[in-house]
Amino acid sequence: MIKNASWIKAPIDTDAAVVKFHRDFCCEKHVKKCVVQVSAIGIFYAYINGKRIGNDVFAPGWTSYGKRVQYREYDITDFLCDDNTVEIELGRGWAVGSVGLTNPYPYQTKQALVIANLHITYTDGAEDYLFTDDTWDVYTSKVTFSEMYHGETVDMTASEKLLGKAKVSDFETKLIPTVGELIVEHERLSPCGLIHTPEGEVVLDFGQNLTGYVEIKIRGDRGGKIVVHYAEVLDSDGNFYTDNMRSARNENVYILSGENDVFKPRFCFQGFRYVRLAEYPFEEIDPGCFSAIAVYSNMKRTGDFSCGNEKINQLYRNILWGQKSNFLDVPTDCPQRDERLGWTGDAQVFAPTAMINYDVKRFFTKWLGDMAEEQRDDGAIGDIVPNCRRNLEDIHPATGWSDAACIIPWELYLAYGDKALLREHYPMMKNWVEYMRKESGCKYLWTSGEHYGDWLALDGNPDEYKGLTPTHFIASAFFAHSTSILIKAGKVLGEEVSEYEKLYEKIISAFRAEYLKDGKLHLVSDNRKNGDDEPILETQTAYVLALRFGLCEEKDRAYFAKRLVELIAENGGCNTCGFLGTPHILHALSENGYTDVAYRLLLREESPSWLYPINHGATTMWEHWNGIKEDGSFWSADMNSFNHYAYGAVFDWIFGVAVGIKPIKPGYKEVGIVPHPLEEIGFAEGRIKTSYGEIGVKWYYENAYVCYDIELPEGVTARLDLPGEDALTLGSGRHRFVR
Ligand code: BGC
Repeated sequence: MIKNASWIKAPIDTDAAVVKFHRDFCCEKHVKKCVVQVSAIGIFYAYINGKRIGNDVFAPGWTSYGKRVQYREYDITDFLCDDNTVEIELGRGWAVGSVGLTNPYPYQTKQALVIANLHITYTDGAEDYLFTDDTWDVYTSKVTFSEMYHGETVDMTASEKLLGKAKVSDFETKLIPTVGELIVEHERLSPCGLIHTPEGEVVLDFGQNLTGYVEIKIRGDRGGKIVVHYAEVLDSDGNFYTDNMRSARNENVYILSGENDVFKPRFCFQGFRYVRLAEYPFEEIDPGCFSAIAVYSNMKRTGDFSCGNEKINQLYRNILWGQKSNFLDVPTDCPQRDERLGWTGDAQVFAPTAMINYDVKRFFTKWLGDMAEEQRDDGAIGDIVPNCRRNLEDIHPATGWSDAACIIPWELYLAYGDKALLREHYPMMKNWVEYMRKESGCKYLWTSGEHYGDWLALDGNPDEYKGLTPTHFIASAFFAHSTSILIKAGKVLGEEVSEYEKLYEKIISAFRAEYLKDGKLHLVSDNRKNGDDEPILETQTAYVLALRFGLCEEKDRAYFAKRLVELIAENGGCNTCGFLGTPHILHALSENGYTDVAYRLLLREESPSWLYPINHGATTMWEHWNGIKEDGSFWSADMNSFNHYAYGAVFDWIFGVAVGIKPIKPGYKEVGIVPHPLEEIGFAEGRIKTSYGEIGVKWYYENAYVCYDIELPEGVTARLDLPGEDALTLGSGRHRFVR
């Protein structure tokens, strides 16, 4: 633990400039071991004797800084000599400045802060400590400006001036060891095109939308200036398009030293595929000087997939890139505009897919830890974690968003089988259900509050973001769903759940009485009072949620599924659901005998569909089904991210149903293999690395037969359900079936 160290800051407010903290120290005896612990309310990079410690970036990551902050720990024994210098660069990062919705300084500090502790053990057993206090010198740095949304200025001609001694801050928070993944640089991409746009802009195309930054290796005259801007797409005329970044300037400015320079921002990142050279001090542009570097949490890949339809394969690659782009320490909605926030709804819809693609146990554990810290005493869970509204106590609970508190811990348990983790999250789950219980009162229906509803569904008013499905219907549906998850979790943990079973029954009967009269959907819109003469509203999402959350009676299931299929047909054969309905629609169909309709939705190419963006060159998931319309114009400027992972939730169906791999027992100790082959696709293969080893399933059409190749590691059994056959139990090894 960081001992005796104080939070320190620059003696004056340097605004958005990065500062350097500096301290010399001697080792008078032989050093056996030296460990340094560093943290920041901001972002830090630490150096001993000019050598960078660690290779992670954006440390210490983003947490609910006012409640807790991680520290990094590095063994620096090999870095030390007799006379040493420790230096720490500090920028504002997520902690200070314009991050959040309306909130310039959410964490009660207007300046970034740093804390560090060096612990030296000598070979004779003696110990020494060096920690941050008011003896450290503070200098300006060559990074003269850095803001998360707006970009960074690096001036290699700027001299580093002494600002004075550090000031001790009385900021208080909990320091915790790093619980999440480190954030590191991953893929490096070279430009695949140099474009001169109709408006005369010079633009580099990296061929892939991603999150990170562009590195420029260059040598030129001292004082020469480079200005770069970032964009995800070009407009229909082929010009650089930045309107969808909203107020985020995303501008990196570099002033050349006259020697060999390597430029990249280190305290902020961008979401982009294209880079505009707004100023460039050379006539010739050598694309070889530029690399795009993808930056994300260091999670290990676990899943893999391919099939005989190249567009579905591209969709899968886009889903993977959507995850890489938005799993930068916190699960974010998008990486480019003035948001990049931990929206809880987006995270819960994508979580099952995320857990197939990568090992995200540590990643989510850290984020759920912040969620629990921020949970209000009455159980309310926010719509954004870490919260970064002006008033940190201002928690905004929203249905389908705050339910991440129940859904994600349960999904983590299914994917990784870690009971201890489920136990850790159980109080938060319970308190969230209690919050909804209080809100619902004796009606057992949650009809109050401000919600996002079926966000961005296409069935609503075209001027509104909310879909048509009434939010009170959705809120009560999620109340039931989260309560059912709590009961399952409680049973696993040996908790007393009978009270929640009773609660669940009450919610279900209230729900049926209100919304499902005579075995049919009975809904009126949000804006109208329930009256006799009002037409009954039907939406795809209402049917989807009723089916998936087990809200309709078993006897009415077939009717509900049939109506869902009819509504799809009435809507020109397309899915009109938004954030809350979309992750479930294919499951709702295939679980009720309509796998063929689910496949038709998946393979549909006209707008709206999953493959429509592929036909428009998408390399990541779009926020809106019609982000780019048929005529090439944009859906809107202010809610039009081209890197939003939410609709990538469909991969959970592709892997779990089309290929057919799903855990039956948590952690895949027992796996359900229920493939759904489709001749039109030819083949599909999925693999997943589990703690037992790798599970693989492939189906393919050969001559007049369908072949199934199944691979199971030691310690895993499978329940195999081939179409039209009785279930079989399989043990470890390779299995082949030809039908
Ligand atoms: C975000 C979403 C988020 C939503 C809340 C948006 O601005 O980008 O993805 O969930 O607000 O409805």
